[in-house]
Amino acid sequence: MIIKRTLVLLSFCVSTLFLINTAALAAPLTKMERLGKRMFMDPNYSRNATQSCNTCHDKRLAYVDPANVADPDNSVVSIGDDGVSTGDRNSPTAAYAGYSPKLHFDTQKGGYVGGMFWDGRATGWILGDPLAEQAQGPPLNPVEMNMPSKEAVVEVIRHAPYVGLFLQVFGPDSLNDVDEAYDDFARAIAAFERSRWVQKFSSRFDAGDLNGQELRGFELFKANCSKCHSADPGPGGSPALFTDYSYHNIGLPPNPLLADKGKDLGLGGFLEKDYESSSPIIGDANYQAQYGKFKVPTLRNIALTAPYGHNGYFSSLREMVSFHNSRDNGSWPAPEVEENLDHDVGNMGLSEQEIDDIVAFLHTLTDSRGHGRGHGGR
Ligand code: HEC
Ligand code: HEC
Repeated sequence: MIIKRTLVLLSFCVSTLFLINTAALAAPLTKMERLGKRMFMDPNYSRNATQSCNTCHDKRLAYVDPANVADPDNSVVSIGDDGVSTGDRNSPTAAYAGYSPKLHFDTQKGGYVGGMFWDGRATGWILGDPLAEQAQGPPLNPVEMNMPSKEAVVEVIRHAPYVGLFLQVFGPDSLNDVDEAYDDFARAIAAFERSRWVQKFSSRFDAGDLNGQELRGFELFKANCSKCHSADPGPGGSPALFTDYSYHNIGLPPNPLLADKGKDLGLGGFLEKDYESSSPIIGDANYQAQYGKFKVPTLRNIALTAPYGHNGYFSSLREMVSFHNSRDNGSWPAPEVEENLDHDVGNMGLSEQEIDDIVAFLHTLTDSRGHGRGHGGR
């Protein structure tokens, strides 16, 4: 009851805020955000001009790959600009990702937190921002946008219809130095990804508008899931992001559709490569302790973003939740990586009804269409 009343009160406050903020909502994106949006949507940053960021992170589909959503049983990874190459992981949403801090070892949690990608390899230590660092990956990745060099990317900016906007935002000399221009390219894209156009915070959950079953689901969620998918306010007092950006091995089975890709060691695989490189960023000699761990994903818009898990093993949301509940009961295939299995999941003892309630709650995290109220962020 108390919760219900608090929610009603909350929803009252939120709608009042809405009234007061109508003028702010009508305000356009900043120049930097607008520039980032143009670049996010521009296919000229791929070798054959077939692919933009939006191809695999579609604005109409909560910023994931529509080809996967349309056929989650058979299509779990994106196809590159060459029309044949595929990656080995499912495209996560590009929304709400920018709250992730730089990859670091959190002594309180006793594990790694932050970074970008399922395995944290865009650490943020180079540009000071994991989201911007991430945006520098896809254009040069041979199985994604496949551009030959940074120079080629900057050349696209030089000839883009929005080159004037770029020069206004970053200065008249900003296209002279290729490395600096490539950093600015990424910073503008990150600004767009953090804008209220992308991070709307406009779901029914945000409006405090939950029915009885959804409220029961929320209570169960707080008890069973929020240790990792945090329901507390996020960095800078943002509304809940449903992740604490930590890493765990929940024991997903290998996806037979990706059998030719080899075992995916996640964070441990990245840390191993990092440790063995000539100039390590993290330098963790004990990387084996991180084998099989993947970053906890946000659950905002989760009802729209099938398939689920880093390898897209589960095509339905209910099955994904059910797996967290009963991994250890012997009815699921063995985990892809047996080491470092997390035991906060696997034997939760939820009933079928309780799983339904949680899934009903998760459906309230879908943003409404149109502009959101956003959050000040960084
Ligand atoms: C060919 C499809 C494809 C294209 C094009 C693409 N991405 Fe991605 N994106 C992915 C996949 C797959 C992953 C996950 C890869 C991994 O974790 O190893 C990913 C990960 C991300 C993430 C990390 C989210 C998180 O929570 O860690 C962000 C942000 C992102 N992409 C933004 C972008 C931007 C910006 C562009 C354009 C510069 C872009 N992507 C182009 C497929 C794509
Ligand atoms: C110990 C931490 C932990 C707990 C507790 C936990 N999860 Fe997860 N969850 C994860 C991790 C890590 C992943 C990604 C795993 C992977 O891809 O290998 C994940 C993935 C998911 C996904 C798929 C997200 C996507 O974008 O593909 C959903 C849905 C989900 N969890 C819901 C829940 C629900 C509901 C609960 C409570 C019943 C729960 N989780 C409890 C860590 C946790």
